[in-house]
Amino acid sequence: MALIEMKNITKDYHLGETVVHALRGIDLQIDKKEFVAIWGPSGSGKTTLLNLISAIDEPTLGELKIAGKDVRLLSDDEKSEHRNQTIGFIFQGFNLVPVLSALENVMLPLQIKGASVKEAKKQALMRLEEVGLSELIHNRPAKMSGGQQQRVSIARALVNNPSVVIADEPTANLDSETARMIIKIMRELNEKDGITFIFSTHDQRLLDNVRRFVRLEDGRIVHGAVNT
Ligand SMILES: Nc1ncnc2c1ncn2[C@@H]1O[C@H](COP(=O)(O)OP(=O)(O)O)[C@@H](O)[C@H]1O
Ligand SMILES: [Mg+2]
Repeated sequence: MALIEMKNITKDYHLGETVVHALRGIDLQIDKKEFVAIWGPSGSGKTTLLNLISAIDEPTLGELKIAGKDVRLLSDDEKSEHRNQTIGFIFQGFNLVPVLSALENVMLPLQIKGASVKEAKKQALMRLEEVGLSELIHNRPAKMSGGQQQRVSIARALVNNPSVVIADEPTANLDSETARMIIKIMRELNEKDGITFIFSTHDQRLLDNVRRFVRLEDGRIVHGAVNT
């Protein structure tokens, strides 16, 4: 069963009298354990597409199935569960809590779910080690570089053991060398743990390490390829 199945998906936004056609007929299937880049210029529909995959938003027309289920038939609770249990999110602006250390930031999602401090700490330390940050766990975000902060947020996205990680332009605030490192870390986690990664980018240079990319332009898929 495909993780995500889109058939002829359109998404319109209504701004007063104006209609913005953000997605115009998307056919896309993403399987479990894939590593997929959604690549396209600003305004091409990347965030809209990721929001549909996360069940944050619904298509205007077309069929969207998440893990085999039509999203129109999912209750609000089921959609929240999909977001909270299945998906880990990584953001362009890192979104770390400034007054918390790296360790505390990564522990937070587990503590919100009611895990003990001891258990949260154990899981968080493991995830921080995976992203190569064991030395910096007591630093606050302001004492870290952008690349280090994004590694903290990768660890935070993983700490609830999601099966899918969605990252909307995770490297947009980073220099190109750091951006490549972030994609490489995500790729290694994909290979090692079989976590599905779906990320967006406008930077073609990041596609080397990517198994599959989907090129968006004006809300349409104009090119898709699988790197071997
Ligand atoms: N909430 C919204 N209301 C109206 N228009 C929107 C909204 N979100 C996005 N759009 C428009 O939809 C198109 C696609 O946007 P978006 O998915 O954010 O593209 P990208 O992430 O590739 O920059 C753009 O024209 C954008 O202005
Ligand atoms: Mg966007």
